[in-house]
Amino acid sequence: MSTAFESLVETDVDLQPYNTLNISARARYFASVESESYLKEILRHPKAEGLRIVVLGSGSNVLFAGDFDGLVLHIQIKGREVIKETDEHVWLKIGAGENWHQTVKYCVEKGWGGIENLSLIPGTVGAAPIQNIGAYGVELEEVFEWLEAVDIEGRETCRYEKEDCEFGYRDSIFKGELKGIVIVTNVVLKLSKNPELNTSYGAIQTELEKQNIDYPTIRDISDIVIDIRKSKLPDPDLLGNAGSFFKNPTVKNEVYERIKEEYPQAPGYDMGNQKIKVPAGWLIEEAGWKGKVVGNTGTYKQQALVIVNYGGATGREVLNLAERIKKSVKEQFGIALVPEVNIVSSDGKV
Ligand code: EPU
Repeated sequence: MSTAFESLVETDVDLQPYNTLNISARARYFASVESESYLKEILRHPKAEGLRIVVLGSGSNVLFAGDFDGLVLHIQIKGREVIKETDEHVWLKIGAGENWHQTVKYCVEKGWGGIENLSLIPGTVGAAPIQNIGAYGVELEEVFEWLEAVDIEGRETCRYEKEDCEFGYRDSIFKGELKGIVIVTNVVLKLSKNPELNTSYGAIQTELEKQNIDYPTIRDISDIVIDIRKSKLPDPDLLGNAGSFFKNPTVKNEVYERIKEEYPQAPGYDMGNQKIKVPAGWLIEEAGWKGKVVGNTGTYKQQALVIVNYGGATGREVLNLAERIKKSVKEQFGIALVPEVNIVSSDGKV
């Protein structure tokens, strides 16, 4: 006879402490998972079969549109271990539940380079490869080696190499084919003891010049990125938000040229293949939404791409605002914005 499911997991749990948008929504079942064996035990339970499952790290990229009639797994698997080392590199195995920024800080202190440009990104290590986190000229895939994940039935632990992961801009196989099929438990990164720093991003260069730093260290880059992020993005501990709400759209050259006729100052980054990436923040600002307050929500005054919860907003309210923004950008520019955050409806993803 198996253990009662209700003794393995909690029931009817408020998710407000578990999402940085600070949205109150209830989960039918909830478990904080500190080990792989416990994760497998839950997943193998007959009652888990057929339940909708949402995996949460620190909830920094999720919007609960309403109560969730399923099982939320809050991954808390910890640990950092050097599993291989050469004169040039270290291979660091990290538990999926470790905090991302604390891990960056740990590497910066050790002098291991590769993730300093990704300083202060909210979230956990396990979530990082799922959306291939990126900022200030660097994406996770550049240091990623492999990850371990448990299949959704809790039967086995599988290993996915970098080439298996199909990384793209804010994308991987774990958001596509393997969505809802595996749960990340550990991630291995290859970090450099003699790192080549990436200072390509304009704001980093400007700051280095301002501070007269000719030979930056990884700590300098990390400190600069932290300062830039603090100046542009709201601290989720003070103001509920989930970072960029939409992805930056990539459009055909001719679409961009058409926009430029009317808005000669329109920013755009050449992606090759006649494609231009247009900052969603600019589109939203031009559509008149920057800093606008709607009920308990609004866009951040310094960064129109970030939707904030001023307190007491419901998931539905945030979603309604996102839909209004999307509609006006579509009307004004003919561009369809796609959410970057994961939207969870009562019965799963929408
Ligand atoms: N812009 C505006 N108005 C705004 C915001 C932005 O005009 O209100 C324009 C400006 O031209 C600015 C450009 O957009 O130069 C780019 O803005 P920013 O440097 O703030 O970056 P972003 O494209 O809005 C992306 C990532 C961020 C990441 C930064 C830095 C996405 C969806 N977002 O934002 O990631 O920190 O670049 O690399 O790709 C996140 O994913 O949650 C996130 C915060």
